Amino acid sequence: MGAQTTPPAVFILLGPPGAGKGTQARMLEEKFGLVQLSTGDLLRAAVAAGTEAGKQAKAVMEAGGLVSDDIVLAILRDRMGDADTKRGVILDGFPRTAGQAEALDGLLASTGQRVNSVISMEVEDAPMIARVAGRYTCADCGEGYHDTFKQPAKAGVCDKCGGTDFKRRADDNAETAGARLNAYHAQTAPLIAYYKGRGVLEEVDAMADIATVRDAMQARVAQVVG
Ligand code: AP5
Repeated sequence: MGAQTTPPAVFILLGPPGAGKGTQARMLEEKFGLVQLSTGDLLRAAVAAGTEAGKQAKAVMEAGGLVSDDIVLAILRDRMGDADTKRGVILDGFPRTAGQAEALDGLLASTGQRVNSVISMEVEDAPMIARVAGRYTCADCGEGYHDTFKQPAKAGVCDKCGGTDFKRRADDNAETAGARLNAYHAQTAPLIAYYKGRGVLEEVDAMADIATVRDAMQARVAQVVG
């Protein structure tokens, strides 16, 4: 009999814009050798590359709405098959609708995988606008910063790669952030009950500072891939 191999673990980070999904996913990726799959990043790359999917997604993203399930699923399915995902993936910003959650179940069933853990990042709405509006990233390595909550050690220089070029997202303004919060509550928050019913939901207080949230999240992930 051949040796049994463990299928790649699947973690989902659920939370509204500004909850800290991207910030925490990058730290989990580094610590546990997992791969962060952010549908927001994949869609922004498609927009920048001018692909057909990117052209269709652009206006929706700028308005703070949700891109159609078909487009998102096609982009994610492609990326999940890549060789670097062997140890496991952290889905950041996916699924966001009931249709996406069901499609994910089907996709995982076909590869012998399952959703191992869903971490719901619990926050209040109002402070999320300030978190999103103050966000910027290194243009070279993508490290995330914030005007108030996470500044580089040396002003204007990325802690991680030494880059000096930074950028802000087109949808990071108070008006669009409000629309994104509404989309979260209407279409994504119901997934909390969906995953709670499946017995895989963990809740983390994501109003705490970044390091405290990191410790809580890493403890949960360690239970699966420690
Ligand atoms: P996406 O890129 O996924 O954006 P989002 O969900 O709105 O999430 P954010 O990236 O804004 O927030 P985050 O939780 O990652 O926060 P971060 O860690 O950066 O999606 C963008 C768009 O793409 C969507 O609107 C939609 O149009 C489309 N899309 C994407 N996925 C889709 C899907 N599956 N289906 C359909 N459409 C889809 O933190 C924010 C800031 O706060 C940072 O500056 C950070 O330094 C700071 N911060 C983080 N944690 C803390 C803390 N604990 N205390 C203080 N500051 C903190």
